Formats: sequence, C-alpha cells, structure tokens
Amino acid sequence: MEDNILSTTEQLSPNNQPPELPTSKLIEQEEEIFHHVNNPVAGLKPIVKKYLGAPNHVEQHGNRFYFTDGEAKVEVIVVTDEIIRIRMAPHGVFLEEFSYAVPKLEAKVSVFHLYDDPEEYRITTNTVNCHISKKDFFISFSDRQNHVTSSDAVPMHWEENVQFGGYYVYGTKVCHTEEAFYGLGDKPTDLNLRGKRLVNWNTDAYSFGWNQDPIYRSIPFYISLNEGIAHGIFFDNTFKSHFDFGAEDRDKTSFWADGGELQYYYIHGPHMMDVVKRYHVLTGTHPMPPLWALGYHQCRWSYYPESKVRKVTTGFRENKIPCDGIYLDIDYMDGYRCFTWNRKYFPEPKKMIKELAAQGFKTVVIIDPGIRVDDNYAIFREGKKNRYFCRRSDDYFMEGHVWPGRCQFPDFTNPEVRTWWGTLFDELVQMGVAGVWNDMNEPAVFGAGTFPDDVRHQYDGFRGSHRKAHNVYGMQMVRATYEGLRKLMKNKRPFTITRAGYSGVQRYSSVWTGDNVASWEHLRLGNLQCQRLSMSGIPFCGTDIGGFSGEPDGELFTRWIQMGTFSPFMRAHSAGDTKEREPWSFGEPFTAINRKFIELRYKLLPYLYSTFWEHHRYGFPILRPVVMQEQDEINNQARQDEFTYGDKILVCPVMEPGQQSRRVYLPKGNWFYYWDNTLVEGGCEIDVATPLETIPVFVKAGSVLPEYPVMQYVGEKEIEEVRLNVYYSDTPVNSFFFEDYGETFAYEQDIYSEKKFVVSGKENLLTLQQTMEGLYTPRYENYCFHVAGLPFKPTKIIADGKPVTDFIYTEGNVLEFKLTKNFKQIEIA
Ligand code: GLC
Repeated sequence: MEDNILSTTEQLSPNNQPPELPTSKLIEQEEEIFHHVNNPVAGLKPIVKKYLGAPNHVEQHGNRFYFTDGEAKVEVIVVTDEIIRIRMAPHGVFLEEFSYAVPKLEAKVSVFHLYDDPEEYRITTNTVNCHISKKDFFISFSDRQNHVTSSDAVPMHWEENVQFGGYYVYGTKVCHTEEAFYGLGDKPTDLNLRGKRLVNWNTDAYSFGWNQDPIYRSIPFYISLNEGIAHGIFFDNTFKSHFDFGAEDRDKTSFWADGGELQYYYIHGPHMMDVVKRYHVLTGTHPMPPLWALGYHQCRWSYYPESKVRKVTTGFRENKIPCDGIYLDIDYMDGYRCFTWNRKYFPEPKKMIKELAAQGFKTVVIIDPGIRVDDNYAIFREGKKNRYFCRRSDDYFMEGHVWPGRCQFPDFTNPEVRTWWGTLFDELVQMGVAGVWNDMNEPAVFGAGTFPDDVRHQYDGFRGSHRKAHNVYGMQMVRATYEGLRKLMKNKRPFTITRAGYSGVQRYSSVWTGDNVASWEHLRLGNLQCQRLSMSGIPFCGTDIGGFSGEPDGELFTRWIQMGTFSPFMRAHSAGDTKEREPWSFGEPFTAINRKFIELRYKLLPYLYSTFWEHHRYGFPILRPVVMQEQDEINNQARQDEFTYGDKILVCPVMEPGQQSRRVYLPKGNWFYYWDNTLVEGGCEIDVATPLETIPVFVKAGSVLPEYPVMQYVGEKEIEEVRLNVYYSDTPVNSFFFEDYGETFAYEQDIYSEKKFVVSGKENLLTLQQTMEGLYTPRYENYCFHVAGLPFKPTKIIADGKPVTDFIYTEGNVLEFKLTKNFKQIEIA
C-alpha cells in the first residue's frame, strides 16, 4: 500500500499495542523541583520531571511509527497528509486506544516515507514533514518548503503521580515573538490567547467575569498563527488540562494534563480555515439541525404556569414578532424531578404542547443530570436497581445537592446508562416535545462545585476516576439525550442544547455560553465567546440574549438582539428574579427594532441554513473572525469585534451604550452595505453610523444571498418564491444555496438540493450561473432577483438564451425581475 523506505514485516498486535522495543536505562536529562499549584503532593515530596532522552530506535507498522530512547516510547501516526498524531508512553506501555472526541481514527493517507538521516528521523507526507531529532528527541513539523511551523522547545516530559498513579504529562513548543493563539472553546477573554495561561475543567460559572477560567467547556484545541501561517494542536486528553501561551516564559508554549497520555494531533494549515476543517475531520461536524431551530427562541427561568406560557406565545403572535422555540425551565417538573410534570402548573402538558405547536411553537424542556434520591420516584428506583448511578471509590453513591435536593447522578460514560437515559424521553416525545435543554452537566453540585476526584466511571469500558471523566460527563449526557431522541423521533431531527461539553460535543448538540450578566461587558464577551467557539469546532452556539442575571435596559437588550440575529443559535433567556424580558417588554422604539432584526433573522434563514450545510458537509465554521479572512494582516490579530456570518456577511455589532457611529474594518475586496447597497472598497477602516435602529452589516461583492419571506415561524406558509439578492463583482464569486425538507434525515440519502451560483462581471456584462446537486425539489417555482451594484444601466437580460423583458431598474439602482428557479445562466447587459 504505502511506499515506505524503512519497512518491517511485523504487524500490529491484535490489541493494537506496539511491539516491545529493546530497553535501556532511561536518560534523565534534567531534574527539577516543580512547584505546581494544583499538585496535591507538592507539599510532600519534591517532584521529579523526566524528559525523553535521545531516540535510538524506530520501528514502523503501516502508518504507525514507534521511537524509543530505550525506555520511553513515542508513537507517531500519519492520520492524513495534514494530520499527524503524537503519543508518548513514559515507560513504553501505551494506554488502550480510546477517545470520546475522535470516535474513529481513520487513516486517509496516500504516500508517506520514513527517512533515517544522521541527525534526524523524518516522516514525510505530501504536505508535512515530522522531524524527530536524534540528538534530543525534539519533535518538529515543517511544510514542503521546509518552513518549520511547530517545534519542541524541550523534549516531551512527565512526572509520576504518586497519589493517583499515572503521570502529569507535558509538551512544550517554541513560542515565536509574534505568534498568536486562538481556540480553546469558551474562554471569556480576548480572542488572541497570547500571554495567557488557561485551564480546562468544566465549571458551573454563574455570572462569570472577564478572564475567569475555567468555565463550562473543555476544548483542548488551539490554532497558532505565526507569520501568516497557521497550524493546530489538539491535545486529546480529558483530564484537567493546562495551556500556557508564552505566559510563564514568553518563548514557550506548553500544554499539560494531570493524567492520561501526552497525545496530541498536529494539524497542518497553512490557513486557519484548513486547521478548523481538519479538526472537524477528527472530531466530526454538527448534524443538520431542524430548520426551525435556526429561528428565534424565547426562554426564561421559568415560564409557569401554563397561562404564563400562553401569554408569552400569544404575545409573539400579537406583536408580530417571529418565534419558533419556547422553553420550559425547571419549574415544569414535579419537585425538579426529571421526566415528571408539575400537574398543578401544567395539568395537560400534551394538550398544551399540541396547541402551542399549532401556533408554530416548538416546546423545548430542560433536563438536569441530578436524580432526586426518592424511592417513590420511578426513575430513581430504576437507576438504583440497575446500578446506573455514579459511585465513590469505596462504593458509596456519589451524592450531592442540586435543584431537587439530595441527588444521585447517572454515569453517562456507561453505554448502558446512555441507552437507558435515551429511553426516558419517550413520554416527552409522545407529548410532542421538540427539543431538550441539557443543563448543570459540568456536572454541577451545590456547595462542592462538582464531584470529588475519586468518583468512579465506567468510561465505555476504559474505567477511570472523575479526574478522567469530569470533562466528558456533560458531553456524554447530551450524547445520551441526542441518541435517545434520535431513536424516539424516528426520522425527525432532534434539537438539543448543552451547557458543558468536550471536543466532539458538536456531533450531538448546540451550546449556549451559560449564565452571563445583563451588562455591556457581557455583550462584548458573548461576541468573543461565540467567535471562539466557532473556531474551536462548536458551530451552533449563542449567548443568553439580554444577559441571564441582572436587568438590561431597552438599549442593551436591543443591541443584544441585533448581535444575536447573527449568532448561529438565537435565544433570549433570563433568571427568575428579573423583570419580564420579551422582545416587546421595553416598549417603543425597542419593540420595533427588535422585530425588524428578528424578521431579518427569518429572511436570512435560507442563507444561515446553507451556511450550516457548508459546516456539516465541509467543516467550515459559521462565524469567522476577521483574522480568519486575512490571516497575514498582522493588525487583524487585534481586531476582535467583527466577524463574518458564513463567508458572505460581515457583521460589526455595537457593544457600547449610546454609540452613534463606530469604526469598522472591511477586509480587502468590495463590500455592499446591506441596508442600502452602497459599494465600499475594503482593505481599510471606515466610520459607520450606528443609531439604535441599525448595526454595520456588509455583504461581499459577488454574493448571492437567498431570502425567504418573513414568517412568524418556520413552516407558517408555503414559500411561493425565493428572493435572490445578487451583488455585482468583477471577479467570479461562488455562493451556495442549500434546501431540503428541513426536519428529516433524508439529506443523508442525498435528498437535498445544493445549488451553486457563480457571479462574474466583465465590462458591461454580468453573468450568473447556477448548477444543482441532490435529489430534492423545492415546491416554489420562481426566484425574484434583486441585483445590486451594476456598474452600468441594464437594458437587456438573457436567461438561457431567451430575453427577459419584464424587469425594473429602481431608483436605488437595483434590477428586479423574476425567473424560473431552474435557470442555468443569466446575462445582464
Ligand atoms: C442554570 C442554567 C440556567 C437555568 C437555571 C435553572 O443556572 O444555566 O440557564 O435557567 O439553571 O434551570
């Protein structure tokens, strides 16, 4: 298969363990006393860090290479031409291969070679070289032009963990003077993580503040950008993990964990977008959500009793503000017992959900992991009988207080427990519940914060303590929910949302950023967090619009709605002790502006849905920070407010009170101001007026933006025609338009329609071409074109060889005409 220069005939042993290699004495390069704040044994005994010595042997087994210094072993796997995995076993014995993040490590490589040079071993693929220095076991990576993208600053190292067994494992890379770092999930801080030291340990962080760390999620994946060239490091380790981006030593970037293996993927760029896409090759993408889930969601802790829910839903319809999702927070339950109903507040939930559905509302209910200890409660009895709840090291149950009082907690790392949990949604699904909100799954415990370290987990057969399972607990909870719903809802797409997560959680759920605050600072933070989540492999994300705790005034709420219109997930939520917080609660002019933006969300639904498809199919993020547009512009490393929504719409939210205008950077190329089609040349900063009614939104020249008519909810009416906003460009630009049934998995059988448009202008001619793929045919017949930015006055339209005579050219210089959706080519002259 592979064209290998050094090859052996040996195969991997059946359990995938590398063969034994000759041992010699471990070379201890250096010993040092290591003061480690989190190290429980620090006070007892000096800790000795051990480093890899010089490698003296290599063996190859297919795409796996094993290097040793005589005792420790390092495994290098060529996963694809651009992805290489490194793993280290301090005493030569690797752990069994298992990852919740990377469900299937599929090697997709064509050709690779191992070279044995006097100074180094080198593994090369079509795009990457992995160098293993013979002198000191430094590992580095370079591209085909021999440009070094990443290199060790010290060899991989470790410390024995006397208390728990295993090792603290460390990797340290060279940090370059101007290197910038992105990713790591939901960290509430600046986009560029340079100079920061951060921890991953899922934490319930009510009213978290700027720079607070850690908070809800653990995504141990970062993107480095140095001299315009990007690469990624995904440190797939579920223990508490730490990252230092030049904080302790400005010349070093380190990542380490309190257990497990030093196992990381080097992900080649050179574009940041390549890195994100390849990270998704490993960890998967988000499934297509139901189309309604891209609409507006209204939530509160809590809407109860039923009359209150109805007042809110009726309020939307009366105020003509579109809304699809309505949420029931913990008070719908009986004493906060999951999978029960408080019949006093909700006497006939099935009837209510049905009637809400008839008005276009999809009901989403909250579920927490804590199960009340109560022998009169069937779910508790079942869990107890089947030993589904987590236990402490000495076999006591893991008990802690959450909303229902004393609780025990399912071990979601046990596949049998996940299956059981999935079945528990049966009644809710029968009642018509459309989505499930998974909360408190860090896991959160009142007082203690979370579980003690000694709690045991089944971990899909690779047993471990809470130290290993903590960061994946929430992800496995929402996985159980999602997989259960998927079975119960037959071919319908479930909608799930989760607070906690680990890399790969995007295969099962959307996320929100947790309990934020109604403040301008949090609006800004939410912007950064959503951009960061998007770059970190979590595309379907949003904030609690308006801020969970505290009181926003009308201006702050409206500015948040405006930003939220361009969040992949758009939900307003508020804590129970705050004033009413619906989009009409602040009176005029706020209500009208909120309506205008929520309507815009619905108009742009087909665009967002197409962008989601590009994520699902190709691994593109939905939000893309400006630095991803022009990564070689050093100034962009500091620009963090702006992002594109998909690749066509640039958004610059207003995040300060009373701001009447703001500075916007437009990346190079031509842009059209969305609100009036003014053409602006990019590559510079401009001032844009920002009265309360508006925020800066620009569309890239050459785009084709599909728009639906405003609807009060998805599916309210049959779509009779789709508007296509076409923006002139003199260089060819592609746009995608994806449609399908919007609620089934038929797209997995190619029942969808993916249209590609190419706009290209030349002198006095604009050409628009359309190609189609897929087996779905939308029911509407026509497109209604709005062509903006023509540099000439149009007099002639030819569609597939035939003239179109019925058109108007408006005073605002927009050419409008209708045409069958099946056209192949239009020429406008
Ligand atoms: C947690 C959630 C919040 C929810 C509340 C009550 O604080 O983060 O969104 O409303 O619990 O369930």
